[in-house]
Amino acid sequence: EKGGYDTFMEKEINDQPHAVADTLLGRTDERGHLVLDEMGMSEEDLRAITKIVIVACGTAAYAGMVAKYAIERWARIPVEVELAHEFRYRDPVIDEQTLVVSISQSGETMDTLMAVRHAKDLGARTISICNTHGSTIPRESDGVLYTHAGPEIAVASTKAFLAQITASYILGLYLVQVREGNEEGVAEVMSELQAIPDKIQQVLDGMDRVKEIARFMADTRAVLFLGRHVGYPVAMEGALKLKELAYIHAEGFAAGELKHGPIALIEPGQPVFIVVPSPDSEHGLHGKVVSNIQEIRARGARTLVIAEEGDEDVVPFADEVIRIPRSPALLAPLLSVVPLQVFALELSTAKGLDVDQPRNLAKSVTVE
Ligand code: F6R
Repeated sequence: EKGGYDTFMEKEINDQPHAVADTLLGRTDERGHLVLDEMGMSEEDLRAITKIVIVACGTAAYAGMVAKYAIERWARIPVEVELAHEFRYRDPVIDEQTLVVSISQSGETMDTLMAVRHAKDLGARTISICNTHGSTIPRESDGVLYTHAGPEIAVASTKAFLAQITASYILGLYLVQVREGNEEGVAEVMSELQAIPDKIQQVLDGMDRVKEIARFMADTRAVLFLGRHVGYPVAMEGALKLKELAYIHAEGFAAGELKHGPIALIEPGQPVFIVVPSPDSEHGLHGKVVSNIQEIRARGARTLVIAEEGDEDVVPFADEVIRIPRSPALLAPLLSVVPLQVFALELSTAKGLDVDQPRNLAKSVTVE
């Protein structure tokens, strides 16, 4: 049942091209229009939405953070992302025109469920992005958009994360379609998304060096992860995977925060992963991150750089360059997170740990 792999985690990481492809499957009609028939809301209601609040925990919350950049960009609706356990004990300003989107692999996470109930009590409309058919959260939500990652057995989430980002992108595009038309724009992003599974496969096929790096790092005490824009939640997810799987202290930072504190952590030999935005990114973000790499390298950091093919600017400041295929900036997380998952898996294995069942963790957190 592990499909020839040693662990579920390895299988699930390698399943990711399918997780994304299957989540994209069957979403459009013959005219290329998105058809989401379990929204549980009329198009009129969707047009009236003034705000989106995404609630989730852990990895699912990082998927939500990625989604915020895309949905705000495409649909021009304000999006907040909040940890479900924080949201449920606040007095959030939401009403019938707020769409609360929960993201959960299991559909049983207690805090996420309670956040959905809290939102409903306050009159909000609720949609669940979920991987488990018939689970509690989608049953209690007005609508659902299922991710089709297949069962995720390993405790730490990998393929569900990619499927969650994919599904939230479909939701964002659906809102564009319903609210503004813009069929061409929607079709263009959908076709870029369709190209992602092959690109994930390319990343997976090129992981030998990443595995080698990981195997030599079994004694590492701490690893830092930097990213910005959509690369920021990817950095946090990379850090979470390393904590969970390899029990190594790891922190993800927004690269722009470096000078506001974290750069004090840089000492000779400190490993730092940097998720570099595409050279085509807006606002000169690429150049800013390249300067960050230069700054930490000058202080002795060991820089492990995840950058697009053809990005030569990073080379002078990188101890290692890990390549991902070119893609639109907003879709890059579906590629850039993969080496970080493989790194955590391999380091955990090198330490002789149980990657599928890390200590102290449960697959679905059904208690507070
Ligand atoms: C991390 C991980 C957890 C879950 C979180 C939410 O690898 O697996 O952080 O993402 O517990 O779980 P779901 O998505 O089932 O609500």
